[in-house]
Amino acid sequence: MKTVIYPGSFDPITNGHLDIIQRALKLFDTVIIAVLENNTKKTLFSTEERMALVKACTKGLKVEVETFSGLLVEFAKKKNCNTIIRGLRAVSDFDFEFQMNVINNSINKELETIFLMTSKEYFYLSSSVVKELASKSGDVSEYVPEEVNTALAKKYSERLP
Ligand code: PNS
Repeated sequence: MKTVIYPGSFDPITNGHLDIIQRALKLFDTVIIAVLENNTKKTLFSTEERMALVKACTKGLKVEVETFSGLLVEFAKKKNCNTIIRGLRAVSDFDFEFQMNVINNSINKELETIFLMTSKEYFYLSSSVVKELASKSGDVSEYVPEEVNTALAKKYSERLP
């Protein structure tokens, strides 16, 4: 039984994340989607909202959705899993991913990170871009699942003065 952890903020989950999850499921039997709880970044969606959206958008897929706080290496140890998966988009991702990989690996030598190159249609797609667009009433329907599109519209309409 091969399991992999896919960690992230998922604020919110996008079609780019789903692409990585679906492709990871070709290599692994189960993907544990680990939603970061105590994010230092201020998130638009609460941990519960992010979890609920991830669950709704991955229905029917062989995934487990969990939250984690603290170090990823500790979460991986708790799950008895030594493999992490991350998506790599444009070169701008490389520095951060390389740094994270070096630090995680220096804490636990057994932990390996596998990088999947993002499919070309999602190369420049990020949760931040989606939020930026949605906050200005831009159409994000081609970038996010329906549930997320609805949640974004609701969130930003609540925020209107
Ligand atoms: O979706 P993101 O924001 O790019 O995901 C980043 C994430 C959650 C994978 C990363 O910030 C993380 O693993 N945070 C937990 C703390 C940790 O273990 N950091 C790595 C060593 S400094």
